[in-house]
Amino acid sequence: MSAAGRRAFRASIFHLLGDPGTEPGAAEFVADGLLVVRDGRVERCGGYAALAPALAPGTPIEDLRGKWIVPGFVDTHVHYAQTDVIASPGEQLLAWLEKYTFPEERRFGDPAYARAVAEFFLDELLRNGTTTAVVFPTVHKASAEALFAAAAARRMRLVAGKVLMDRNCPEFLRDTPEQGDEDSRELIERWHGRGRLAYAITPRFAATSSERQLELAGRLYDERPGLYVQSHVAENRDEVRWVAELFPSARSYLDVYDRFGLLRPRAVYAHCIHLDETDRRRMAQSGAAMSFCPTSNLFLGSGLFDRAEARRLGARVTLGTDVGGGTSFSMLRTLAEGYKVLQLRGQTLSSLDAFYLATLGAARALELDAHIGNLAPGKEADFAVIDPGATPLLERRFARAGDLVERLFVLMTLGDDRAVAATYVLGERAHPR
Ligand code: GUN
Ligand code: FE
Repeated sequence: MSAAGRRAFRASIFHLLGDPGTEPGAAEFVADGLLVVRDGRVERCGGYAALAPALAPGTPIEDLRGKWIVPGFVDTHVHYAQTDVIASPGEQLLAWLEKYTFPEERRFGDPAYARAVAEFFLDELLRNGTTTAVVFPTVHKASAEALFAAAAARRMRLVAGKVLMDRNCPEFLRDTPEQGDEDSRELIERWHGRGRLAYAITPRFAATSSERQLELAGRLYDERPGLYVQSHVAENRDEVRWVAELFPSARSYLDVYDRFGLLRPRAVYAHCIHLDETDRRRMAQSGAAMSFCPTSNLFLGSGLFDRAEARRLGARVTLGTDVGGGTSFSMLRTLAEGYKVLQLRGQTLSSLDAFYLATLGAARALELDAHIGNLAPGKEADFAVIDPGATPLLERRFARAGDLVERLFVLMTLGDDRAVAATYVLGERAHPR
């Protein structure tokens, strides 16, 4: 790094300055671009020819010509403790939780085990170009500690919180409303707002929390408005029926969360498949975000997310890998599967829209767009370097793609971790391929 803490990267640059669906001119592509980073933030971003002459003498320039710089991806729903549950076949949600997930999550009571998996998990995110994630640990306080510590060491932006679950699950994974609340409060004191970390109150889903636990979760959220909430909703039909039995007076599954004050801006609900119009309207009004998790929804046979309705009613939509129900850490793969899910619905996903979901759209939904989401000056310099020549097929098909929209579509359809040549966090290389 230069004496002034400044460095520059020469490559093609693609990012979104707005929602391409509603804001014309949102997409910015610079074929021969220069990204100038100073003290971890973007100082300038534009054409090489225009910016290079003004660069302070002695500023190191990394030559990445032939590659594309894109903003780091934002994965809004993923379970780090399910890293080793990935590719567990034969069941839908509820049986899959019992058979594979709960036994594995039990192991995270051991801090050393949790630490080792957290480190692998975060490195895997970085290998895939993901620099910000909203993550589920397990019920164990130590599992959240391990994750926050590993993220802090990598200087990553991360939202997470100890899972709350006090019923309808194995004894070995249960907390109590009081213990869950106390552990959450201690973790908030220790980690929320420290560096780039934020805390999410994390009731696993309505089925595994008592009314008392949800009530305390809502109360905590009320007391500390800067926190996040994360949970699951309306993923699987059997799950929806079960929640209706458990909360007979609620209008819908989503309404359970609403009654406890858990539907607000900065709340992220994974799946949101089996909702009705009232629910979707309520999501939109509340400012809570939906996390569409296509690889998981296909793998667990959960159902098809309705993007068009979410959009029509104005709900915030983001994208999650949902590993280990999901089958890939790659947001490129996740976009490709999202496209296919929407095809089965008779809907489509343009490539610009797809990249918006994975970057600025998610940043806005999480109210982090002052910090991340694109490479505008002042933002944190989190980015992925994409190699369109990563595989013979990608290289060949990419070369034949006519315009930006087609190239991005080829990238998301054929790309995966192999296409991520490097990932930078706050302007420093965090994953060299
Ligand atoms: N609903 C409650 N817990 C889970 C989980 O771990 N994964 C998924 N996909 N859905 C859930
Ligand atoms: Fe999940």
